[in-house]
Amino acid sequence: MTTKININGTLEENPQISVFDHGFLFGDSVYEVVSTRDNKPIYLDRHLTRLNNSARGLSLEIPYDNERFSLEIDRTLQAAGNEESYIRIVVTRGVGDIDIDPSSCQTPNVIIYVTETHPYPRESYENGINVALVSIKRNPKEALNPGIKTGNYLNNVLAKMEANKLGAQDALMLSPSGYLTECTTSNIFFVQGERILTPAIDCGILPGITREVVLQLARENGFPVEEGSWPVETLDKLDEVFLTGTLKKIMPVTRLDGKQIGNGKPGPITQRLMRLYDATLQSLG
Ligand SMILES: Cc1ncc(COP(=O)(O)O)c(C=O)c1O
Repeated sequence: MTTKININGTLEENPQISVFDHGFLFGDSVYEVVSTRDNKPIYLDRHLTRLNNSARGLSLEIPYDNERFSLEIDRTLQAAGNEESYIRIVVTRGVGDIDIDPSSCQTPNVIIYVTETHPYPRESYENGINVALVSIKRNPKEALNPGIKTGNYLNNVLAKMEANKLGAQDALMLSPSGYLTECTTSNIFFVQGERILTPAIDCGILPGITREVVLQLARENGFPVEEGSWPVETLDKLDEVFLTGTLKKIMPVTRLDGKQIGNGKPGPITQRLMRLYDATLQSLG
């Protein structure tokens, strides 16, 4: 496995970041995770658009334009020379005083991590995973809006820890007003009969790039999809559930709180969308 770290345009043999960086001190940063096909970034333009939107949400000025990002990512991918890569882009507020006020930070730091990708186990795609509905609520969007992908993921870390304790692979969180939102690093879809339901962005979720592609694929292929505010009772009547995310792609969920969903195997709609999504990725670039 080769890992290469690019800090502000330099490929560092011994990468270091200051303990005074507000990304480290306060989680004051934005980030993206990008996957590859043939070791080339997938949906990079969409990830950079979201990165810029996140930065705008924090009034953080990103010193790179998309062309510079593309160049630095390519350079780092080439240096690492993996078959397929995991790319993480982080932009921090930069070095400043030990004070919550970001105005002492002069220059954001741009860090690009490239490492070998670790695919999820094949068994998870074949049999599905167990997700727990946890007591930790998703951040209210009036506080730290989950639509902004920041380096402060403690809400999700706590939810993940609760899921671990419950023996589940991921945690489903409710919004403070009791509606279904998303999992710790993925969006969620529910299937009831022919209907596919997913929480609307307004519920306080990250606008997932995989979610967006899956919504489009579902609609183009004649599946009725509804984005909305779904109460917790929605979970009482489920035929299929799946998660979406850049790394996991479409991941079937076959147990909720340990209870079997449907016949306990990935359902037909999930499987169809998994095939359509894979075909879409194959057709890129
Ligand atoms: C909280 C959260 N929701 C959803 C997603 C899925 O987004 P994407 O499909 O863009 O990877 C992520 C990805 O990291 C996430 O962190």
